[in-house]
Parts: sequence; structure tokens; C-alpha cells
Amino acid sequence: MRVFSGIQPSGNLHLGNYLGAIVKFVSLQEISECIYCVVDLHAITTWQDPDILKSNIRQITAGFIASGINSKEHIIFNQSKVPCHAEMGWILNCVARVGWLNRMTQFKEKAGKNKENASVGLYTYPILMAADILAYNATHVPVGEDQKQHIELARDIAKKFNMDFNKTIIKNGYKNDFFNLPEPLINGPVPRVMSLRDASKKMSSNDPSDLSRINLIDDEDLIQLKIRKAKTDPDSLPSETLGLENRSELRNLIDIYAGLCSSDRDSVLQNFGGIQFSNFKKELTDLIIEKICPIGKEMKKLMNEESAIDKILTDGASRAYEISKPILEETKKIIGF
Ligand code: TYM
Repeated sequence: MRVFSGIQPSGNLHLGNYLGAIVKFVSLQEISECIYCVVDLHAITTWQDPDILKSNIRQITAGFIASGINSKEHIIFNQSKVPCHAEMGWILNCVARVGWLNRMTQFKEKAGKNKENASVGLYTYPILMAADILAYNATHVPVGEDQKQHIELARDIAKKFNMDFNKTIIKNGYKNDFFNLPEPLINGPVPRVMSLRDASKKMSSNDPSDLSRINLIDDEDLIQLKIRKAKTDPDSLPSETLGLENRSELRNLIDIYAGLCSSDRDSVLQNFGGIQFSNFKKELTDLIIEKICPIGKEMKKLMNEESAIDKILTDGASRAYEISKPILEETKKIIGF
């Protein structure tokens, strides 16, 4: 099992990243070789202030470490330091089909109405994501639900490459296609955490309202304020999941609660069924403060140790390069370069 995943340094790390991805990153360390990437090449598909980008790259790195990722046993690095991603990206641009990209819903959402004015990088972004994964021939990719379509595209690209060049290799004594078909690992604490202000939208660092998300570096007061302001309805909590129908804001808060205490909706509702929404919000605030604030505090401490963070990234990049370079070289040979 080789695990690869990435997070964009395009804003603050938030509870969606944590429950949708990072919690899985941490637990997979026990059973596999893990490569976690700060995907700065992806971040510049929309304009980034250079100084803020630099600081965000360190913030994501600090977030990985503060959440429990071991940078010695596994790899943490930033994408722009390993040239294989961009090179593999170009090769896979020539394998992927325009029709496949046209189906990507995230491009449509991010580009909005003005898609003629979106960067070309934003459009081809999922191909670079495929390159990230295939440059390491990763077998598993832990992500939140919003990335599912992109992993399916990576699988289609891998399949087409394998078919176009029909090259098999021997792995562990068995004949195999050159590229593995990466498996998405979507299930986990909460595959899709929704905005605190509008539960029809996912929690995102792009949302202009900071009240829509809990950032991992938020302090106690801010967390309290954000949960207090989170959209609610006037009814008390039901005792069963059936009672969550048409109450998407409540469902989201229940999921966050369940995700943070490794429980599930049913058990949370059994515990809290019948209590007032405002009382549940107090319980949730306490839980978020207990689970997230220590991570945020550690992140802030690490972010002050810039040279230590930079060293982790440089060291990770050289180890990542050692893995991806021979895979890229072999890919080039197969193509005929
Ligand atoms: P990004 O940076 O948008 O998000 C990073 C990870 O966090 C998950 N996530 C969420 N999960 C649940 N609820 C949410 N509200 C939420 N918001 C974000 C995402 O699903 C993701 O797992 N394209 C990717 C980064 C990437 C990548 C890769 C991932 C680049 N190359 C290769 C895997 C493999 C992205 O923009 O994620």
C-alpha cells in the first residue's frame, strides 16, 4: 500500500480538511507508506499573494505535524520542489481527453459564470492531480467526498495510458499494468463537512465569510462565536436520524460532533435527543475546543519555527524525488523518449 494525498495552501486549514482528510492521513500511517503533499502548484491556479502563499505552505506543513503525521517515518513536502509532478502532468495532459475534463464539476463551480476568464491551470488542474498520484504509483488516496470525481479521472487516465502503451511490469512476481489504478479512500469521520452558514455548500477556505468555517488555528473565543452564530432551527434535537430530514444545518453539526469523538449520528442523537439546539451547541463548542485548540496551538508554535518547517519540506522533497524520479523515467521510456 502506498498512500498519496495533498492539500492546497490556498487559505487556512479548516475542520473540513481535518475531518475529511487529515484524520485519515494520520491513521493510515500505521499500515502504509504515506506521502503527503502541500500542493502549491495547484494553489496558483487562482491568484495567490506570494507572501501569503509562503506562509500558507508552512501552515499546512505545521497542520500535518500538529495533527500527528510523522515526517521522519513518512514524507511531507511541497509539490513545487519536486519537478516530476509538472513533467508527469504534461505527459498526462496528452493522455487525458478534453471531454473528460469538461465533465469536472469542481471546475464549473470554481470558474463560475466567467469561465472564459479562468486560468488554463484551473481547467487542467485534475490532470496535475492525476500526475501527483501516478508519479508515485500510489495505490490509495485518502480524500474528502468533493475529490471523488478527480480520483475517478486519475483512474481513467491511468487505464488509458496502460491500454495505449500496453506495457506490463513484474511486481512481486506478478505481471501488472504499469500504472496502478488508485483507490479513493472517501469514508472516514465526515466525508463532507458543510458550511456553518449554509449547509447546502461545503465548508471551504474560499468562502468569503470566516464564520462559515472553523479554522484549525481559531482560538476558544472565535470557536464559541462561530458555533453560536452557526445557522440553526427552532426545534429541539430528534432522537433518531429520521428526524434529521430537512434539517441539514443540524445534520452537519451532528456529523461534526460524531466525527470529532469517533462516534456516529445514531449514538450522538441517542445521547442528545430532546435537548434544545442551544444546549447542543454548547456541548459541540466544548468538544471542538477540546479536540482542535491543542492542534491549533501547536501549529502556531511550529509556524514560528520557520527554518525547522522548511527543513522538513526540503528533506521530504528529496525523499519524494527519489521515489518519483524512476517512475517518471520509466514512463518516458515507455512513451519512446
Ligand atoms: P483541497 O485542498 O481543497 O482539500 C484538501 C482535502 O480536504 C478535503 N476537504 C473536505 N473534506 C470534507 N469536507 C469538506 N468541507 C472539505 N473541504 C476539503 C478534500 O476532499 C481534500 O481531501 N485537489 C485537491 C488537492 C490535491 C490532491 C492531489 C489530493 C492535489 N493533488 C492528489 C489527493 C491526491 C484539493 O484541492 O484539495
